[in-house]
Amino acid sequence: MTVRVPAKVNLQLSVGPRRDDGYHDLVNVFHAVSLFDEVTAWRNPGPAATGSGGAAIEPGIAASGADDPPGASVTVTVEGESADLVPLDGTNLAVKAALALAERAGRRPDVRLRIRKAIPVAGGMAGGSADAAATLVACDALWGLGLPREELMEIAGDLGSDVPFALFGGTAVGTGRGEKLTRVPVAGRFHWAFALAEGGLSTAEVYGECDRLREATGEQVAWPSASDELLAALAVGDAKALGAVLSNDLQPAALLLCRPLARTLTAGREHGALGALVSGSGPTCAFLAESEDHATTLATALEAAGVCRTAVTASGPVPGAEIV
Ligand code: C5P
Repeated sequence: MTVRVPAKVNLQLSVGPRRDDGYHDLVNVFHAVSLFDEVTAWRNPGPAATGSGGAAIEPGIAASGADDPPGASVTVTVEGESADLVPLDGTNLAVKAALALAERAGRRPDVRLRIRKAIPVAGGMAGGSADAAATLVACDALWGLGLPREELMEIAGDLGSDVPFALFGGTAVGTGRGEKLTRVPVAGRFHWAFALAEGGLSTAEVYGECDRLREATGEQVAWPSASDELLAALAVGDAKALGAVLSNDLQPAALLLCRPLARTLTAGREHGALGALVSGSGPTCAFLAESEDHATTLATALEAAGVCRTAVTASGPVPGAEIV
């Protein structure tokens, strides 16, 4: 069972006050773009099938041993973009997703997962969340559960704030932690270049830095709301208007934690990007282009300027996790 799942970029990420549970209430305008990870799920013949670089995990057990019965575990392998940075133990969000789904369904977790990555790891494009969402869809089908999407969305929300959107896809406003989604009407298609950085940023650290900055400057944190200009630009497919109102409250914190990103953003603007911002908690930078050709030109220019590890193009909106 193979599921394809998109990356996201945040068109508006407005971070409200820190809540008692440590999370922040958000207005998060998510936009799914055509940069896809692929998760394939097989019934697991048992720990013997675990290849090199894989791991076998059961609930409460770090790695399954030779005495486990066949089909008693989750095994995972990862290929592609920065695959070596992805954990292969129980901290892998796709593994957590398989275990959570099995628990909900009251069955043993019996699956071998292969994740093919194109979405940057720890890049602010919700790659780990995407893999978790894809795993929910793949295992639901593989195990013949047929759970309604609303139930998958509920499990997704417990796994992480961005996981529900990877199921939902398209363009949506996320509130609460970002997990409560309302679809946003969009006309046409928007074209993007993404500058991928060396290494990643921890989402929790970037939020922490954002809190510290706000405290240091005494900034009054307003209750966030979705920008009318942004929603209007999306509704009519006006890339120029959209580019002018892209915003990300986490950007100052990401720029402090990863100073070279300021140059990356400047280089994109100098090459005519309609809008330039850090994607989510970074360090990937997103550039809105005038057209598909312009996105390619931008990506080439960003690479040539030496302000990123590599640059890719994508367009959105695209659907959420779906079986291929
Ligand atoms: O939900 P998720 O596990 O993806 O969140 C990762 C981290 O990002 C959280 O531990 C928290 O520090 C931060 N976060 C937050 N407010 C949100 C979403 C995430 O503070 N709405």
